[in-house]
Amino acid sequence: MKTYLVTGGAGFIGSNFIYYMFRRYGGDIRLINVDALTYAGNLANLKDIEDRDNYTFIKADIRDKAAIEKIFEENDIDVVVHFAAESHVDRSITNPEVFVETNVLGTAVMLNAAKAAWEKADGSFKEGKRFLHVSTDEVYGSLSDPADYFYETTPYDPHSPYSASKASADLLVKAYVDTYHFPACITNCSNNYGPYQFPEKLIPLMINNALTGKKLPVYGDGKNVRDWLYVDDHCKGIDMVIEKGRLGEKYNIGGHNERENIQIVKTIIKTLQEILPEDDERRKNVSEDLITYVEDRKGHDRRYAIAPDKISSELGWLPDTKFEDGIRLTIKWYLEHMDWMENITSGDYQDYYKRMYKV
Ligand code: NAD
Ligand code: DAU
Repeated sequence: MKTYLVTGGAGFIGSNFIYYMFRRYGGDIRLINVDALTYAGNLANLKDIEDRDNYTFIKADIRDKAAIEKIFEENDIDVVVHFAAESHVDRSITNPEVFVETNVLGTAVMLNAAKAAWEKADGSFKEGKRFLHVSTDEVYGSLSDPADYFYETTPYDPHSPYSASKASADLLVKAYVDTYHFPACITNCSNNYGPYQFPEKLIPLMINNALTGKKLPVYGDGKNVRDWLYVDDHCKGIDMVIEKGRLGEKYNIGGHNERENIQIVKTIIKTLQEILPEDDERRKNVSEDLITYVEDRKGHDRRYAIAPDKISSELGWLPDTKFEDGIRLTIKWYLEHMDWMENITSGDYQDYYKRMYKV
């Protein structure tokens, strides 16, 4: 039975990944979730699996070398799936340091602890061990030619403190592969959407604001392009890379689903108008009149677009969820989990929102 150590499993993609893995493997795996529970980590995300015998939660910070080493000493970890990170570009612009500390130094701690636990006396690594570093398409920078895509061979050109910290972490993983033949793979995925995403990110923020009649703050001219992928399709890709990916390789994950931000916002409004029952009070709030163009993000990358050719041809990965279906599923999920949204948006979120959007 394989033992997985998932870092950042109380966050958006991490919690979706944990559900994905239990749906797929049931009782045939052991899974340990290590998370520091920052503002982005929420154990309520995991309440449907928290009582499983083959699941353990450990509250620990990946920057804490002693705590991470202890986890490796006490458990025979087979696979590390490293999600834990500071993930929000806007926060990285106002407070870059913690991005370096968690995303770069935290990754160094994870790599070192795994290497110490997995390395044999002759410098080779025990059979079957895998370190999957979860990264982003933002490391490649911004595309200007509309015919261009991000390939695994595209040179790194990060612009925000967030993407620079993720690029640094990727290079550190590569250095471990090149220097020690450390058994790692990297995945670089495009923008995810789905359940449990923190409402600082575009899609859940717009859903929540529309339902509560708040303005919908669109940065710049609203024409920046992101390449959206339903979170379960990302989780499927990660699992496939763990199972079948060639060690030392990187794999781009994305479903060719490019949309301008303004299109996303209008789709959310239209879908809410279709889904909300006639007698739902919130219906009257939902209208394009809420759209407000605000000051642009500093250094705002214009377009991201992933070429998923390698993961598709080598591993047979293809996305299952069309955007039209995924966005409906996502909006329905938020409508059915308004208590989750209310818990998350009370308290500190209010201060963040006022500071960020100057309201
Ligand atoms: P998130 O912000 O929702 O979750 C991050 C999780 O990491 C939280 O549970 C948080 O508590 C935990 N964490 C943060 N700092 C920690 C620390 N020092 N020690 C331990 N735990 C810590 O992020 P997400 O959107 O789920 O992204 C997860 C990973 O996927 C990140 O590495 C991100 O760069 C990458 N990624 C995200 C996207 C996306 O669209 N969201 C796309 C591609 C890649
Ligand atoms: O591409 C993958 C990346 O996608 C991940 O690595 C990051 O962790 C994740 O946060 C995401 O980064 P983005 O910056 O693309 O996502 P965000 O949801 O913050 O913004 C999406 C787009 O919407 C971006 O062009 C900025 C714009 N935006 C965002 C917010 C929050 C707005 O116009 N208004 C907003 O209020």
